[in-house]
Amino acid sequence: MAQSMFERYGGFAAVSRIVSSFYDRVLDSDSLSPYFADTDMRRQIDHQSKFISSLMGGPASYSNDQLQRSHERLKINDADFNEVIAVLTETFEDAGVSASDVSTIIRDINSRRSIIVSK
Ligand code: HEM
Repeated sequence: MAQSMFERYGGFAAVSRIVSSFYDRVLDSDSLSPYFADTDMRRQIDHQSKFISSLMGGPASYSNDQLQRSHERLKINDADFNEVIAVLTETFEDAGVSASDVSTIIRDINSRRSIIVSK
């Protein structure tokens, strides 16, 4: 059977490293960092790594309902969502994830735009 992306790129430890690099970049952004002012980043990296792992064919994690509840109060707009997608794309590319795998992951994330954007 074909290996999942999750297996091919090295499982949870590898995904965690990529996600950690993603949040370093998010916190460098003047428009995105204020959203995370009160967030425990270690916990955040762990949660986001679980979510991204599930998109890559690893174990299931967050339902759309949970994602909606986690973002509702943040009043995220389309521009900030787009910036997150751009930073995520760049982080995956820099980590050596293939263009076709990046586009699969980003397509999945983009399909959740309407549950995350609320402004
Ligand atoms: C691009 C698609 C996105 C995905 C897949 C995603 C995924 C997640 C996940 C899995 C969590 C953890 C949920 C929990 O702990 O219950 C989370 C929390 C959070 N997300 Fe997102 N997110 C996305 C976009 C965004 C955007 C665009 C922003 C802001 C610019 C944002 C800001 C946050 C913040 C601040 C939290 C933490 C809330 C807290 O402190 O409890 N997210 N996100």
